[in-house]
Amino acid sequence: MANLLITGATLADGTTTDLFIADGVLVDPASAPVDVERLDADGLLAIPGLVDPHTHLRQPGREDAETVDTGTAAAARGGFTCVHAMANLTPVTDTAEAAEFVQSLGERDGHCEVRVVGAVTKGLEGVELSELGRMANSRANVRVFSDDGRCVADSLVMRRALTYVKSFDGVVAQHSQDPRLAGPTACCHESEWSGKLGLPGWPSQAESVIVARDVQLAELTDSRIHVCHVSTAESVEVIRWAKKRGIKVTAEATPHHLLLDTPLVASYDTTFKVNPPLRTSEHLEAIREALADGTIDMVGTDHAPHARQDKDHPFDVALPGMIGLEQALAVVMDVMVNTGRMDWPTLVERMSFAPARLGHTTTQGRPLTVGEPANITLVDPTARATVDAEQSRSRARNNPYHGRELPDPVVATMWAGKVTYRR
Ligand code: DOR
Repeated sequence: MANLLITGATLADGTTTDLFIADGVLVDPASAPVDVERLDADGLLAIPGLVDPHTHLRQPGREDAETVDTGTAAAARGGFTCVHAMANLTPVTDTAEAAEFVQSLGERDGHCEVRVVGAVTKGLEGVELSELGRMANSRANVRVFSDDGRCVADSLVMRRALTYVKSFDGVVAQHSQDPRLAGPTACCHESEWSGKLGLPGWPSQAESVIVARDVQLAELTDSRIHVCHVSTAESVEVIRWAKKRGIKVTAEATPHHLLLDTPLVASYDTTFKVNPPLRTSEHLEAIREALADGTIDMVGTDHAPHARQDKDHPFDVALPGMIGLEQALAVVMDVMVNTGRMDWPTLVERMSFAPARLGHTTTQGRPLTVGEPANITLVDPTARATVDAEQSRSRARNNPYHGRELPDPVVATMWAGKVTYRR
């Protein structure tokens, strides 16, 4: 592996430094040989590689939508050095063998580290626990378990899952969506908009009632719960209450729930169909405030690539989900940093350190100091561009930011010293 000296980079805390990468690790820049390869980072920020707690890579099973190769290439372009691969694959990641298979795909094709998320229940059916312990003890070393895409609706199953994962300090990441309140046809936020547009809606309470139940089950079992893609003001209030009580709860917000709102659905463009749905501005405001004050601990992209034929349907029939790895940092910058709501050290906490801690990923989410793995994202904080979905490294084109002018921050991404993206 080539050694590299990054010169004159500014760190998140505002200090300027050289960073010397040798054999994938950060070492003292004073020891760099004079003829070493150099990268001039004058005017650029160097931040720890981003970590996504919530990515759908679709392989195995739906390689027409995304593969580990294309999904992690998109991740690298977005500044990520690690993604957590969700379990709603075909076959579902619910056994040690399935987990090791996804792990090996990541090792073979990944442009970043791929951490495997195991399913909570067999086949995501919500009935019988999957092989939680065997997945934890497998080579994939699974610590995050989620039926994401589906809610673990049965309280007793949830209690058992929380009890089980506690034995190896795992965490259950819940897709909070009461399946009765959000019926099978619900496809947008229940509001004046759902009425006007004639689309079946789901109320924000279909999320928060599950969050309220789960934090109480986490208290009962003294175990860890993680709330995926928080989208409502009510959920934020519940999480705030639970944290005050000392309950072990963490939460994530997606870039799209920070920026995009319900009225976009009026276009009936199925790119904007997502679960949980895009909410109204009061909810967006609550999510932004919670991400700033730490009630919401981290950003998760919920990158959900879909093949065109699964989106080319009437709104209520099309599959939910939007891609997000490549624009995640741009959206968080524009909504949170460029508005003065968040500083760079806090962004690093929300997009690198906190998601690495979620599943005890020790190789990621580390400060850029000597002796640490060289996972680095170089950022130009001033560059902007209009998003073109056709330019994506993802195989999918369901990009909700297409045509929008946004920051275009990522200049280079280095994963364990290897350049995985360079503009
Ligand atoms: O919109 C969504 N799509 N939300 C989820 O939770 C799952 C995801 C998918 O897998 O397509």
